[in-house]
Amino acid sequence: MSEKLWGGRFSKSTDEMINEFQASIDFDKRMYHEDIAGSIAHATMLEKCGIISGEDKDAIVKGLRDILGQIEAGKFDFSVDLEDIHMNIEKRLTDAIGEAGGRLHTARSRNDQVALDTHMYVRRQVTEVESLIIDLQQALVETAEKHREVIMPGYTHLQRAQPILFAHHLMAYFAMLVRDFARFQGVYERADIMPLGAGALAGTTFPIDREFVAQQLNFESIYHNSLDAVSDRDYIMEFLSAASILMVHLSRLSEETILWCSREFSFVELDDAHCTGSSMMPQKKNPDVSELVRGKTGRVIGHLMAMLVAVKGLPLAYNKDLQEDKEGIFDAIDTVKFSLAVYAQLIRGMKVREEVTRKAVEEDFSNATDLADYLVKKGMPFRQAHAVAGRAVHECIEKGIWLKDMTLEDFKKLSPLFEDDIKEAIRPETCVRNRNSLGGTSYEQVNQQLESARQLLAAEEKYYAESASRQVNL
Ligand code: ARG
Repeated sequence: MSEKLWGGRFSKSTDEMINEFQASIDFDKRMYHEDIAGSIAHATMLEKCGIISGEDKDAIVKGLRDILGQIEAGKFDFSVDLEDIHMNIEKRLTDAIGEAGGRLHTARSRNDQVALDTHMYVRRQVTEVESLIIDLQQALVETAEKHREVIMPGYTHLQRAQPILFAHHLMAYFAMLVRDFARFQGVYERADIMPLGAGALAGTTFPIDREFVAQQLNFESIYHNSLDAVSDRDYIMEFLSAASILMVHLSRLSEETILWCSREFSFVELDDAHCTGSSMMPQKKNPDVSELVRGKTGRVIGHLMAMLVAVKGLPLAYNKDLQEDKEGIFDAIDTVKFSLAVYAQLIRGMKVREEVTRKAVEEDFSNATDLADYLVKKGMPFRQAHAVAGRAVHECIEKGIWLKDMTLEDFKKLSPLFEDDIKEAIRPETCVRNRNSLGGTSYEQVNQQLESARQLLAAEEKYYAESASRQVNL
C-alpha cells in the first residue's frame, strides 16, 4: 500500500521521479493562507450543517491556526511526497489532531479546494496590483503637474510632428492606466465567485451550505454549475490578459524613456539611483529598469499564451493540466507588481531637461501645420494652405533655416494673406495654446485632464479601499 492520502487503491508507492514531476508544492505553497482560510470556512460550515461535531470543528480550527503559525514562523516542513499545499496541510493537521483531521475533507475534493484557493489568491493580488496602478498614476500626475509648461515635440513615425506639452504626453499613459485599472476590476469580479461545494465535479451527497461558505469568505457570488466551478480558469486568463496589456503599456513607456534619456534625445535624465553603469565603459549610465520592464513584458505575454493553449483542448472537468495555471500567474503577478513599483519610483526621480525639449521644437518644422492653419483662418482652403506651407518648408530646407527665420517678405511671396502676426502664430507656445479642442494639448485642456485625473484617482482609491477591506485575514 502507498503512504499517500489517496493510497488505499494502490499496491505500490509512487516512483520517485514521477512523485517529483507531479508535485506542485514548490509553487502552490504560496497559497497557504487561502488554503487555511478556506478549510476553516469549510469546517465551520460542516459543523453548522450537522455534518461534523462541534468538538471536531474546534479541533480542526485550532489545528489549522497552529499550522498557520508554523508556516508564518518558517517552521513548517513542506514535503514533496505530499504533492501540494492542500495535502501538506491536511496531513500535518491529521498528524496533530488525529481523527478530527480526517473529517475535514468531507464533502470536498482537491478540485474545488484548489479552485477556491486560487480564486481567493487572485482576488487579493488583483487588489494589490490596483493599489500599485494608483501609485504609478499618482506619480504621473505629480510629474505632469510639476512640468505644466514644458513643451516638447510630439512624434508620428518617430518624426517630429507637432509641439505638445510634456504633461500631455505623460497623461496619455495615465489614461491607459485608467483602462488597466478597469480591466483589473473586471478580473476581480470574475475571481469573486465561490467554487467550493462543487466536489470533484458533480456536487456532493452531503447537505452542505455553499452560501454560508461564500459569506464567511466574502464572496460576492457562487458558481451555479459544479462542472464549471472546477473547470473554470477564465479569471486566470483574464488576469494574464489584463496583465499583458498593462505590461505592453509599461513597455511602450519604457521604449520612450530609453529614447528620451539617450544622448540623441536628452529630453530626460534618470536618477543615478535608478540606473546602472558599465563594467568596461566608464561613461555609461544605462536605463536598465526600462529595458527590463520592456523585456519582462514578453514573459507575461508568454504566460497568457501558455494558459490559453493549456485550456483550449481540455475536456470538462478537472485535468491535471490545470495545475499548470499557477506558475504562470504567480510569475505574472510578481512581474507586474515589481514593474509597477519600480516605475513609480523611476517617474518620480526623473529630471526633465526643459531647455532641450524647448530647443527641439524651436529647431524643427513641427509648426508647419500651424502655418497652414493660419492661412485657413484667413480664408484659404486647407488643401491649398497645406501646399503653401509645404513650399515654405521646402524653401527653408534649401536655405538651411527654420520657418521662424523667414521674413514677412519671404512669406508674402508665398501668399498675400500672410501678415505680421504670422511670427506669433508659429511660436511653439502659440501652437500648443491653440490646440484647445477637447482632449487637445493646450494648457487649458491639459489642466482639465489633470483635474479630472484627481477625481478619477479618488474614485479608484475608494474602490481599492473597499476591495482591500473585503479580503479575508486570519
Ligand atoms: N495540485 C493540484 C492543482 O494545482 C490540486 C488539484 C489536484 N486534483 C487532482 N484530482 N489531482 O491543480
